[in-house]
Amino acid sequence: MGTGGRRVVLAAAVAALSSIAVGGVVAGTGATDDAALRPARGKPDGAVERRVDALLAKMTLREKLAQLQLLADNQVTDEDARNGVGAVLSLTDPEKIAHLQRVAVTESRLKIPLLFAYDTIHGFRTTFPIPLAEASSFDPDVATTDLTIAARETAAVGIKQIYSPMVDVSHEPRWGRIAEGAGEDPYLGSVMAAARVKAAQGASYAADDKVVTSPKHLAAYGQPEGGRDYNTTDMSESRLLNLYLPPFKAAIDAGADTTMCGFNALSGVPACANDHLMTDILKGRWGFDGFVESDYTAVAELRACPPRNPDEGPCGHGVAADGPDAARIAFNAGVDSEMVSKNITDFGAQLVAQGKLSIRRIDDAVRRVLRVKFRAGLFEHPYADASQIAPRTMTPDDVAAARRVAARSMVLLKNEGNALPLSGDVGSVAVVGALANSQKDPLGPWSGVGKPEDAVTVLDGIKAAVPNATVTYAEGCDVPCESDAGFAAAAAAASAAQVTVVVLGESADMSGEAASRSSIDLPGRQEALLQAIKATGKPFVVVLMNGRPLTLDDVDATAPAILESWFGGIQAGNAIADILFGKVNPGGKLPVTFPHNVGQVPIYYNHEQTGRPCNTEEKYNSRYLDLPCTPLYAFGHGLSYTTFQIANLRLSAKTMKPSSSVLASVDVRNAGSRAGDEVVQLYLHDPVASMTQPVRRLRGFQRVTLQPGETKTVSFRIDPGDVGFYDNAGRFRVEPGTIHLYAGSDSTAELTASFEVTQ
Ligand code: BGC
Repeated sequence: MGTGGRRVVLAAAVAALSSIAVGGVVAGTGATDDAALRPARGKPDGAVERRVDALLAKMTLREKLAQLQLLADNQVTDEDARNGVGAVLSLTDPEKIAHLQRVAVTESRLKIPLLFAYDTIHGFRTTFPIPLAEASSFDPDVATTDLTIAARETAAVGIKQIYSPMVDVSHEPRWGRIAEGAGEDPYLGSVMAAARVKAAQGASYAADDKVVTSPKHLAAYGQPEGGRDYNTTDMSESRLLNLYLPPFKAAIDAGADTTMCGFNALSGVPACANDHLMTDILKGRWGFDGFVESDYTAVAELRACPPRNPDEGPCGHGVAADGPDAARIAFNAGVDSEMVSKNITDFGAQLVAQGKLSIRRIDDAVRRVLRVKFRAGLFEHPYADASQIAPRTMTPDDVAAARRVAARSMVLLKNEGNALPLSGDVGSVAVVGALANSQKDPLGPWSGVGKPEDAVTVLDGIKAAVPNATVTYAEGCDVPCESDAGFAAAAAAASAAQVTVVVLGESADMSGEAASRSSIDLPGRQEALLQAIKATGKPFVVVLMNGRPLTLDDVDATAPAILESWFGGIQAGNAIADILFGKVNPGGKLPVTFPHNVGQVPIYYNHEQTGRPCNTEEKYNSRYLDLPCTPLYAFGHGLSYTTFQIANLRLSAKTMKPSSSVLASVDVRNAGSRAGDEVVQLYLHDPVASMTQPVRRLRGFQRVTLQPGETKTVSFRIDPGDVGFYDNAGRFRVEPGTIHLYAGSDSTAELTASFEVTQ
């Protein structure tokens, strides 16, 4: 440790370490992992349970079924509220919300309040960076800031449930919804998921600035075949438990009281018909006592399509013959609330009469819905206070937070010859690219009730950052960039300026739901636009705006500097300018691998070992003839305007017993002349195990700020639960043997140490 070194205790990462195990039985070959056996929740609140029981005792079957129905804003009527419908999604107008609530609590027989729900994914009115960007911060405080503000704004209009966080781990850059999650890593995803849930729910989501969360989409929706949204997923049990379920478990452990089953089939069983996921794992092993809502019409989609389904409407999986069959399968499997399609309302009574759906299961589902409503305080406070909406929405502090968070979420991918930061004394700047002048695109997909007019463009951000400079703008081409008609004007602007900022990437609607791409190149002729700017011979840098990893070989070969800004929210333009002109030193890291070529997909850092590891120099191994083994940018990669040295990895012990931990410590030093942030990352690898293991997996990270010359020590506690893994029988195994650790600044870190796990 250098002089002035300080010890950083890794509270967030350590907390997540113990919550990463997703449940199951511990194998006898190794140490016991209590976390794996422990249900996620404490004891239910007796007072709430008594109120739930008392209310349930008064309900008719029809009223019970109504509580299990969730309707969209464009479906719901006053009549539904009068009949005791359970919940409403996507209604955001506070007056309409208050009106429907009034009908429910004054005109329905039992006066059960409605639960209003909304997709608050990265902000409600104050739009924050997309979650993939926030994961790039490697800083759970970023997620906390977003969700604290987002929950307050959402609750202010009377909405008490958010369909968030989206916790689907994904190795599929073609899939548009990769933008909504935390990327490819279950550990990073778990830390971010827990932070989001805790921030949105607080100590009690009955508070008037809190909401109940719904981590989604249970489960493995992030790995659709071919990257096409909604498509089949198929995987081993061990892969499900080790890679895809940990962020759900972390979210449930953090207190999430609702969750949503996905559209996808998992190993042949649609998620909303999947009793293994919903009943065995979630409600059984994890002790989840909240409710599961189906995704939008996902219950109806269990049905076979015409001619088996002559009434048309959503259909497809073909595991149910018709509507009654769909309700029977979904609710018996563990769905508690049906979104948009109405099979439970229409056919629930008939199923009970036929003995196909037990009253016990119906009562259990109703109990779960009511429990959440009681916990949300809706019976005491069904209405939001309209006078509080304005003071609680998009305050100056919220806008400042959005700017800070956006800058923290950006990743400097390349910076040859210190092309960045640009001088604040620059006399003239040309700004090129349609995305530079867009207010809509920085909001990204799922931008809530965010408004483009609130957003600061890159162009305006740059103008504000260098008020004395002449700033010119040339579109070059629109985002699809099918024509080069504007290239000459863009090149002329670049020729006339001291430096050019070229903004390239995707429009917001190219990612998000139902927005898969077969190519993840820059759209159209954007690369040719970049070549036209380079041909001027004048200095230039590239800013990217996009919602997924892109294939950037040509950009990387052309541009001296590349800043990945993702979709940065309403303050994207200011945050980008903060970084370009050095007011903020970038410190984000990639939460997902950037391939050279879409043919490498799926490519991810924590892939399993093979008997013939990839080696392009040899023949009979797991390689492509025409592509390298490695990606363009690795998971965890990200640069700074300063340089860091990470050294002296040491362990508190050489062995780990079933009841002991090992503390790994490492020193990080700012070796440059500017203050900056480094994300110290710790990976582990189990070289000999009863199942093939990932080549390495992230088990700790900490983002630290260091002054020039300063050194800090970062420590990570590793428990037996962190070195174990699930097998295909769903058993958690902690096996004796060597564990290798790697510490450094990205997933290729080489600093290493080892310890032995003993019986
Ligand atoms: C999406 C969900 C979303 C729901 C309600 C669905 O199409 O898959 O993520 O929560 O709509 O808006």
